[in-house]
Amino acid sequence: MLILGIETSCDETSASVVKDGKEILSNIIFSQEVLHRQFGGVVPELACRAHLESILGVINGAVIEAKITLADINAVAVVNTPGLIGSLLIGITAAKSLCLALNVPLITINHLYAHIYANNLESGAIQYPAISMVVSGGHTSLFLSESPTRHTLLGGTIDDAAGEAFDKIAKILDLGYPGGPIIDKVARQGNPSAVTFPRSYLGIDSLDFSFSGLKTAVLYHHRGQDMKKAPTKVSSDQEIADIAASFQEAVVDVLVGKIALAARMYPARCVMIGGGVASNSRLRQRLKDKSAEMGIPAYYPTSRLCTDNAAMVAGLAYVKYSEGDVSGLDIEAIP
Ligand code: KG4
Ligand code: ZN
Repeated sequence: MLILGIETSCDETSASVVKDGKEILSNIIFSQEVLHRQFGGVVPELACRAHLESILGVINGAVIEAKITLADINAVAVVNTPGLIGSLLIGITAAKSLCLALNVPLITINHLYAHIYANNLESGAIQYPAISMVVSGGHTSLFLSESPTRHTLLGGTIDDAAGEAFDKIAKILDLGYPGGPIIDKVARQGNPSAVTFPRSYLGIDSLDFSFSGLKTAVLYHHRGQDMKKAPTKVSSDQEIADIAASFQEAVVDVLVGKIALAARMYPARCVMIGGGVASNSRLRQRLKDKSAEMGIPAYYPTSRLCTDNAAMVAGLAYVKYSEGDVSGLDIEAIP
């Protein structure tokens, strides 16, 4: 079965053809990173317009790369929640139009569950129940997953998402946008124990997250408590690398700590992560070490499948379709 997946929930326009929920025939990702860089973050109205301009070309590219024609597609899948409302609507409108023209079913996909499914695209049979975590620019969410389509939310962030914290710290350190990949790279030259930044656990058995205190601590450490002042001294490259590594270590400590706590509280047979921050090299290493200690496998997708992409959407749609879960053309975007 060939499913065309469409993803436009934030700032990547993506379309992909996946065969039987596993085999990626194409996965075109058009990133708007350059467009938003000058603003230091995603501007929703610009994102929406850029999706509109690129969506047809991206879908066309996915069909051509898969070496099929539109007539070969058996179903269309689209992310309808969560995301930026204007951006979601572009993908949904394209998907509905295709379903109508091709007379094929429409399958709606939750963006967060798709991030988790990215693991199934590359690994053999994943054993459930699993503890799954989505760490991205907009979310830090921990789930108990009974199957690729059944997830119970165990906890989430009460303020900033993990990726947002990476982006903001990169801005404070003048490292550029998006911050996650740059901090990951710079931190490799730094000492993760150089600065002791706070770790917020929000209580002994809490599965929620908070990164705003950590963000403020890095800000004060780097610029002093008077925000109007320039940094008190010019930091050397080594000092910046030390701050980046120490910040990253604080985030990773909390993320891995909460995954391990959830795996102790619930009967998990594996742990897995997804979303942009899941490509962080330190997080991947520490999760691997922790899972070895716990005696259960840990999964994380390759980097290209961590950030927003439509292959994870088309893949998960195959499972939903197999469960008879298809939608009418009256579905709406749920931001
Ligand atoms: O999943 P994603 O592409 O978009 C959302 O759904 O939000 O995630 C983007 C986020 C950004 O905040 C970016 O800085 C972060 O993922 N990110 C990383 C890394 N690569 C991307 N964070 C830490 N380390 C990385 N290597
Ligand atoms: Zn995402």
